[in-house]
Amino acid sequence: MTRDQQEVRAFWEARYGEHDQIWTGAANRTLTDVVTELGIDPRTSQHPPRALDLGCGEGADALWLTEAGWQVTGVDVSATALVRAAEAGRSRGVPDAMITWQQLDLATDFPQGSYDLIAASFLASPVHLPRSAVLQRASQAVALGGVLVIVSHAAGPRGSHHHDHQHAETPVQRGHDHLDLPSPAEELAMLALDDEQWTVLLAEVRERSAIGPDGDPTIVGDTVVVVRRRAG
Ligand SMILES: C[S@@+](CC[C@H](N)C(=O)[O-])C[C@H]1O[C@@H](n2cnc3c(N)ncnc32)[C@H](O)[C@@H]1O
Repeated sequence: MTRDQQEVRAFWEARYGEHDQIWTGAANRTLTDVVTELGIDPRTSQHPPRALDLGCGEGADALWLTEAGWQVTGVDVSATALVRAAEAGRSRGVPDAMITWQQLDLATDFPQGSYDLIAASFLASPVHLPRSAVLQRASQAVALGGVLVIVSHAAGPRGSHHHDHQHAETPVQRGHDHLDLPSPAEELAMLALDDEQWTVLLAEVRERSAIGPDGDPTIVGDTVVVVRRRAG
């Protein structure tokens, strides 16, 4: 393992080690809305469509997808997060056949195969995460006709960003001190997709209610980008 990989693991193990649970356990509302709006009903398929959740953390989004009928692979660099995700799956009665948890460092590794849906929900890290390269690699793993869904923090009204209880410390960091909250257009440009092969389904900021760091209800903005790989 390289020094960078050791640092990434150490950072996220320490982060998850701070509390028995660091996220709320609820799937992100923007992600669930967007996936629902795609109008795909996995239960009508002969075989469950395959979904991949990048940086799945404690598994809330991945488990929501399995409960919606997707066959899911959740990947994360943190073993602690994945143990919690697996425990949550068992306690929710998710069949083992519907979910695979995989520990890997997306900076240097990527799950094999192709997927009908790839989700990157608040995939961000202050340590060694080449986010653009990871998301470009993700686009290559989207099956024909499949979708890539990216949800990230939107900038707040005055260039600040909102904090919320579920994702309180996840601004995307570029360089050492530059907090980057990409706009939908910047996210799309970063993906550098071939227009002839991809259709942009969504590139916008969506608001949702959340609980602020002070415990009060607040409204936060999520940048959301959804692109579909043309079927042929
Ligand atoms: C801000 S959290 C988001 C977790 C989850 N997607 C959610 O929305 O609750 C970012 C996640 O990315 C994971 N992560 C960070 N760097 C990673 C890397 N290089 N490879 C794989 N996972 C990574 C972290 O362990 C963490 O669980």
